[in-house]
Amino acid sequence: MSKSRGMSVPSEKPTILVTGGAGYIGSHAVLALQQAGYQVVVLDNLVYGHRDIVEKVLQVELVVGDTNDRALLDRLFADHAIAAVMHFAAYTYVGESVTQPEKYYRNNVVGTLTLLEAMVAASIKQFVFSSTCATYGVPTIVPIPENHSQNPINPYGITKLMVEKILADFDKAYDFKSVSFRYFNAAGADPQGRLGEDHQPETHLIPLVLMAALGKLESIAIFGTDYPTPDGTCIRDYIHVTDLAQAHVLGLEYLLKGGQSDVFNLGNGSGFSVKEVIETARQVTEKNIVAVEHDRRPGDPPALVGSGEKARTMLGWSPEYADLHKILIHAWQWHQKRHG
Ligand code: UFG
Repeated sequence: MSKSRGMSVPSEKPTILVTGGAGYIGSHAVLALQQAGYQVVVLDNLVYGHRDIVEKVLQVELVVGDTNDRALLDRLFADHAIAAVMHFAAYTYVGESVTQPEKYYRNNVVGTLTLLEAMVAASIKQFVFSSTCATYGVPTIVPIPENHSQNPINPYGITKLMVEKILADFDKAYDFKSVSFRYFNAAGADPQGRLGEDHQPETHLIPLVLMAALGKLESIAIFGTDYPTPDGTCIRDYIHVTDLAQAHVLGLEYLLKGGQSDVFNLGNGSGFSVKEVIETARQVTEKNIVAVEHDRRPGDPPALVGSGEKARTMLGWSPEYADLHKILIHAWQWHQKRHG
């Protein structure tokens, strides 16, 4: 394991371990931490993450490995003065979690538990966790508040809920403090075009619409036009990834100042339908994106919109890019650069 490049540089702010820092949301969080003056070490198994993003763009130390590897974690915590952990490393394909649940339970639950045990052994007790609105299941109230019932409808959502429960128990047992963020639909890219979304395979609406705009896909499928929504297509709350990343820095600082464990939605409180997203993408890209109506995709709730009021009030979170146009402009800039 090589030493952190920045370790000899005196810094008032501590070193943060970011698991999954080579992935989409994690890489934006690393950038936000750097901009706030923190030192960062990334742990990523590179199954879905990108080495070039960590080494060339972010230029922080990358430890290649798995959260299931306890010996590696013990060495990592012995070699670095880590103050807190931001945990993004997880598998996130809802459909795959249904067909290969063991993959999700092993990585998202067992891997996280291993990480938490290693943290407690190393007396590191501040943790920012990447949870999801998928823990709510099909909502009965929209915008969804944090105290809404949690009945996830797929293994992916169950794994994230299990970790939320483990975190509550670790607080009681070990005084282990955590902030869990339940994201709605992460979207967009770094406004300066340094980072963005690059999943292999890609299943998300916005990147696929933009791939169609680039001519890499013939068309975009609309999954379901008979939902009980104004235009019949599903409604989602799209959050700019830079706003998500900023919330993580605020969550970390809340914990570093001695905050109690808590959970926060990260949503803008307003939703857009699949058809509205496609139409906005046509305006932003000035391309004729062909949309083809398909059957519903199993497991999609009709509308997921989240109230981010608690994060605004308690953490001072103030999303800068709550506008769908801005989200798509930044995502388009990135897609042209990365995939054009
Ligand atoms: N959609 C299409 N065509 C596509 C892809 C998606 O119509 O080709 C639709 C989906 O059916 C859905 C909407 O676009 O109605 C958004 O779909 P995404 O796949 O982009 O996002 P999801 O809402 O399914 O997933 C997001 C996160 C997950 C999280 C989930 C919670 O990416 O990690 O929200 O429901 F679990």
